[in-house]
Amino acid sequence: MDDGDRRIGVRQENNRGMAPPQKERTPFSDIDGLTAQMSEMVLAALTEMGRHPEIRRVRRTGFDALRPALGARLLDAGSGSGEVARRLAAEVGPRGEVIALDHSAAITAAAVSRHDNSNVEYVTGDVCALGLPGDCVDGVWCERVLQHVDDPDRAIAEMRRVTRPGGRICLIDTDWDSLAFDGVPRALQDTVLGYVNRHFTPPYRDMGRTLRRRLVAAGVTGLTATPVTMLFGSPDSAAVVLPMVNPRVPEDAWRTPPGLRDEWLAHVEAAGARGDFLAVLTIWVVAGSV
Ligand SMILES: C[S@@+](CC[C@H](N)C(=O)[O-])C[C@H]1O[C@@H](n2cnc3c(N)ncnc32)[C@H](O)[C@@H]1O
Repeated sequence: MDDGDRRIGVRQENNRGMAPPQKERTPFSDIDGLTAQMSEMVLAALTEMGRHPEIRRVRRTGFDALRPALGARLLDAGSGSGEVARRLAAEVGPRGEVIALDHSAAITAAAVSRHDNSNVEYVTGDVCALGLPGDCVDGVWCERVLQHVDDPDRAIAEMRRVTRPGGRICLIDTDWDSLAFDGVPRALQDTVLGYVNRHFTPPYRDMGRTLRRRLVAAGVTGLTATPVTMLFGSPDSAAVVLPMVNPRVPEDAWRTPPGLRDEWLAHVEAAGARGDFLAVLTIWVVAGSV
């Protein structure tokens, strides 16, 4: 940690180098490896997502499941821009604290720049190899992170290790296989998704619906599993969460044959203009006790 890091309150986790590399890359699995332009887009996307009413609905379900108590010490594993960590800090009050941990130094610096003087400590580190001692937190929040890591079960074991007996773990993740559209031609949709699913969605497309099984295997008890189906009634609303309907995603990122992207987006726009565009995607909120 150099002086610059100390000034902005970023600590580097000791064990970061022990984790296996995240071989299957998505933009969110290696933000620091992106171009500056893409990295800014990712940060803007996270910020916009945090404001979306459907993501807020998912988070409300998560807060109810985690039940953060006054004075608690919590870990937000894969904390992105730190928005949820600061919300959690407000919930646990001045005698509680939140460790906001993320793999990306760039996103952590952005989170620090948005700090609001709540009790949040920003840390760079790997959820698959946490440098924290055992039993040191009362609860863990991990939202839309496990779909991007190489070894989600190792990450869950790490979260369980650092949570004290009786503490809570709340995992939130997407079931990309649940993605469905209406108002656009089905065959075209299948063709486009056949191309872009390989790089717009992570390798663990089923992460959301596997969370419960993974927590059972990790010995977490008293589980609740809540599927929250997000509904997007317009292309603009959907584009905040779904890259495959977002015309702002740079053309070269699509890797579709010439013309296909434009044809698809024209149909999406036309459905929006007619008022019959619809997209749905289920996110799972799964929580339990250690
Ligand atoms: C989709 S973003 C979600 C961020 C935040 N949880 C939210 O809901 O806004 C995924 C985040 O996980 C982080 N991440 C990816 N792999 C990680 C790892 N192995 N350890 C810690 N963080 C990781 C990324 O840097 C990114 O900030």
